[in-house]
Amino acid sequence: MLLLSIESSCDETAAAVVRDGREVLANVISSQVDVHAAYGGVVPEIASRKHLEAIVPVVEQALVEAGVGLSAIEGIAVTQGPGLAGALLVGISAAKALAYARRAPIIGVNHIEGHLFAPFLEQPVDFPFIALVVSGGHTHLYRVDGVGRITTLGQTLDDAAGEAFDKVAKLLGLPYPGGALIDRLAAAGDPARIHFPRPLMHDGSCNFSFSGLKTAVLTHLRKFPADGAGDALNDLCASFQEAVCDVLVQKTAAALAATGIDRLVVAGGVACNSGLRREMGKLAQERGLQLAIPSPLLCSDNAAMNAVPGDFYLTRGIVSGFDFDALPNWPLDALAARLAWVRGEE
Ligand code: KG4
Ligand code: ZN
Repeated sequence: MLLLSIESSCDETAAAVVRDGREVLANVISSQVDVHAAYGGVVPEIASRKHLEAIVPVVEQALVEAGVGLSAIEGIAVTQGPGLAGALLVGISAAKALAYARRAPIIGVNHIEGHLFAPFLEQPVDFPFIALVVSGGHTHLYRVDGVGRITTLGQTLDDAAGEAFDKVAKLLGLPYPGGALIDRLAAAGDPARIHFPRPLMHDGSCNFSFSGLKTAVLTHLRKFPADGAGDALNDLCASFQEAVCDVLVQKTAAALAATGIDRLVVAGGVACNSGLRREMGKLAQERGLQLAIPSPLLCSDNAAMNAVPGDFYLTRGIVSGFDFDALPNWPLDALAARLAWVRGEE
């Protein structure tokens, strides 16, 4: 099945053309990040307006890059939530209009389910697997038994990992979004120079908490203002990044041990982090795990990832119709109902 995929949940307007939920023919991403940087974070009204400007050119470019016309598209997958309501509505309205014009079936995809299945565009993973999703809005551990068959094992009780990176970057006077920049500075720093706390690391749960870590960085900077510049800043970034990675790795290891599962997926924007990729690689080697982390372009927001669950649903006749709305808060556990009637078939 040849799918057109659309994503507009936050500050990237994206469209992709994907065959059979596997072969990416085009994956176009138009980022608004420079516009929001001036405000130190995503401004929802501006995001909606920018999506509106970008959506048609981005879809057109995806079709051109894929070398197909709209008439070849057999189905449409669009992010239905979670995300910013106004931003989601732009992608959903465009997807509905195209599906209507093309008389093609349409499916609303959960953005986190998209992130979870992004690695399948490069290497399929057997079920069940444990998945750590780390992005600007999410830090969640899941057990995944299939598309739509996802159980939450734990989650952040306050800030998401990406949010912690971005807030610490802001404290340090670095531009938004600061995650990638902290990663770059950390590469030149000494992670052992400052010991930051590892919140909830040994509490036995699969939950996370990052707001105290952010406060610890603030307290440290007040005491040692010189650590906010030069080589000392590299050390601070490396020490902070290591604290975040230690907790993410430790909690993921706990989830693997508790379930006895030896397959692991790490996804979402923070999965671009070089320290996290390295530490997860070590964990996989030590424990003989099958590890799948998508290449960076497929970790951060993109449309191609929607095509993996999108293709699964549409080829089983599960469609959204034309009257579905954006779901700004859409827990993954709610997806099971979608599959109730196809379960018997598997
Ligand atoms: O998945 P994503 O693109 O968008 C959301 O759905 O949130 O994730 C964006 C988040 C931002 O917080 C950004 O700072 C973070 O991912 N991020 C990173 C890196 N690259 C992106 N965080 C740490 N290290 C990176 N290299
Ligand atoms: Zn995302």
